[in-house]
Amino acid sequence: MKKIYLNRFFSTAYYLIEWLKRGGFYVIASGVSDSTVYKNIADEYFVEDNLSGVEERGIVDYYTLVLNEHKPDAFLPYSNLETIVRHKADIERDTGVKIIADDFSVVGATFAKSGTYTRLKNLCPEFIPPYFIAETRAEFENAVREISEYARPCFKFDTDIGAGSFRVIDDVFFAVDEFPPPLPNLKTTYNAALKGYNGERVIVMPYMSEPEISVDCLRTPNGNIIIPRVKRGGRIEQIGYDREIMLAAKKILGSFRPEYPFNIQFRFFKDELKLLEINPRLSGSSHISAQAGNVNIPAIAARKALDLPVRYEGKFDMHEKFFSYVEMPVDVTDKPNTNTEYKKRV
Ligand SMILES: Nc1ncnc2c1ncn2[C@@H]1O[C@H](COP(=O)(O)OP(=O)(O)O)[C@@H](O)[C@H]1O
Ligand SMILES: [Mg+2]
Repeated sequence: MKKIYLNRFFSTAYYLIEWLKRGGFYVIASGVSDSTVYKNIADEYFVEDNLSGVEERGIVDYYTLVLNEHKPDAFLPYSNLETIVRHKADIERDTGVKIIADDFSVVGATFAKSGTYTRLKNLCPEFIPPYFIAETRAEFENAVREISEYARPCFKFDTDIGAGSFRVIDDVFFAVDEFPPPLPNLKTTYNAALKGYNGERVIVMPYMSEPEISVDCLRTPNGNIIIPRVKRGGRIEQIGYDREIMLAAKKILGSFRPEYPFNIQFRFFKDELKLLEINPRLSGSSHISAQAGNVNIPAIAARKALDLPVRYEGKFDMHEKFFSYVEMPVDVTDKPNTNTEYKKRV
């Protein structure tokens, strides 16, 4: 049985692990603590070292040690993806483990949102939203002023993940006289944003209020798997195969030609489809796409990396579907096969 190692991921890795096991793989996972929810579904689990603040070399050395110690056949990375992808060849050479992610030469541009835009600006200018990169106060002020002319400005770090820095600048919001006032959510005022700004590299752009469209993609020898999910609000995800979105995803896939999972995020702005960002990996909700399309995306990706015949005949279920989800209680009390003895390395 081939073994796949997954490093720290969203809690929804629970379902990715389930898909991998269904595909006949043995799964080793690691996470931040002993009570990480997906440890219950993994065949083996260990607590990862905290790598925050560790420089690139240390991260590469750490995963090299982990792979040599646990000896999986393939590694599906989520945390530290950029570093792992940058050093993919070295890690594969030093461990003999295949990495289920594309080479830096293929997906390197996507690690910065502006890099993605620059990479695509000639081939598909129609998908690039208006945006500014600011690295100084003057640039930040100018960007906000320009965008305010026609839209609500918002900003985020150019290289962020997980929506950590995204804020909408909204002075109107703070002036409302409703009681109780609406929850501030991810909003800030212009003055508050400027007060804390210290020349961080941010991307400033119009706020696009239409629902987010997250497209889970995988190229296979038997054709592209492209599954668009529209976040309809609340817990509703609409899986639908809108022609415009399918064509846009196909065009972008054709430009990057990634071998491994590729998630493209769009929003409509003034009736035009615009690209938000690309993540060259499985999205945190890709299990919903796999279920809707009835196609084992994680296992196909793993089989590609391991040079196994891909069991995909070129068809996935393309009916429109609506998905929701419920929280599932999982007992995370320590279980015997948990490798809590794993030693700190860094
Ligand atoms: N221009 C925008 N308009 C509306 N929402 C946005 C915009 N940019 C970012 N967001 C919101 O912030 C989230 C995170 O932004 P994203 O570009 O996906 O970066 P990351 O996920 O890497 O932090 C998005 O999923 C979306 O909800
Ligand atoms: Mg995103």
